[in-house]
Amino acid sequence: MGWNSWNKFGCNVSDKLIREMADAVVSTGMKNAGYEFVNIDDCWQVSRAADGTIVVDAERFPSGMKPLADYVHSKGLKFGVYTDAGRMTCQKRPGSYQHEAQDIKTYASWGVDYVKIDWCYAEGLEPAVQYPKFRDAIAQSGRPIVFSICNWGVKAPWTWGPRTGNLWRTTGDISDNYNSMSVIGFSQDGLDKFAGPGHWNDPDMLEVGNGGMKRDEYLTHMSLWAILAAPLLAGNDLRSMSDETKSILMNPEVIAIDQDKKGAQGHRVWDEGPLEIWVKPLADSSQAVGLFNRGESPLKITLDFNKIGAPPSTNLRDLWQRKDLGTMQNSYTAEVPKHGVILLKVSK
Ligand code: GAL
Repeated sequence: MGWNSWNKFGCNVSDKLIREMADAVVSTGMKNAGYEFVNIDDCWQVSRAADGTIVVDAERFPSGMKPLADYVHSKGLKFGVYTDAGRMTCQKRPGSYQHEAQDIKTYASWGVDYVKIDWCYAEGLEPAVQYPKFRDAIAQSGRPIVFSICNWGVKAPWTWGPRTGNLWRTTGDISDNYNSMSVIGFSQDGLDKFAGPGHWNDPDMLEVGNGGMKRDEYLTHMSLWAILAAPLLAGNDLRSMSDETKSILMNPEVIAIDQDKKGAQGHRVWDEGPLEIWVKPLADSSQAVGLFNRGESPLKITLDFNKIGAPPSTNLRDLWQRKDLGTMQNSYTAEVPKHGVILLKVSK
């Protein structure tokens, strides 16, 4: 869990922005809610020195990366950077191709805790050959660095990702609208068998709070990502979050579903037209259940307890309302708003 600069700020990153965001992670309560990493995405790097060392943009990061990492650490947070396994990053900054070990060594010397490695300008290269170079360099660096593989699902990263990195993107980029988010989120069914503690499918970072979706749509986004046990990297401006955004990003019961220690990714158990039911098994043998309406008007959904292996008499809790619904017999029917969700915890 953490924050990343890309979705909101794109190339507009700087020392000042990252420090302010680290401050905001703490002052807004995001840190207490579990968000820990502060990650700079593309555009912090400009060139290479004669010896090949990566050169940081001195205008945007005048004191360099080490003091910035120290600042983030001083807040009790962790620090991440971005590079690319190809010849250039997607924004045409120097890539790490043929500098894999050198770059990881540099990051380790700054105190980097997380590295996201993209796949632009990698023509003719094999992801299953290039990405392990970074894995091995991280092992040799002696620093524990979370390794995020970002090759958009190309060549089924879930097959080689688990032995290579800690998370791997499964799709192209998310954008801040319901169509993009829902197409990505609802297409993750079947990938659950590849995920588990320490190695996760990554359906991309959160857009919650960026303004392009309605509240019900952001509830769907957050619920689906929690059921998918997805990495939760906020992508909004934490310095100016509305109370509504805070309540979505920091609902402790929804975060607990995402972070549940069983580490199981959920899957779809039922669908009919625009209606889908997804289930995530939890460590305490209860289940998180999402009743989703992808349609354009409110619709009723019925959850049959026997379809999810729950007993005829079952306890339900609504995790967005944060309210016990009581013990129900055989099934539960509710109206779900357009593009919305009811997220339940189902237990004996
Ligand atoms: C894309 C990547 C995005 C972002 C962007 C930066 O390839 O999927 O998440 O990192 O590059 O240029």
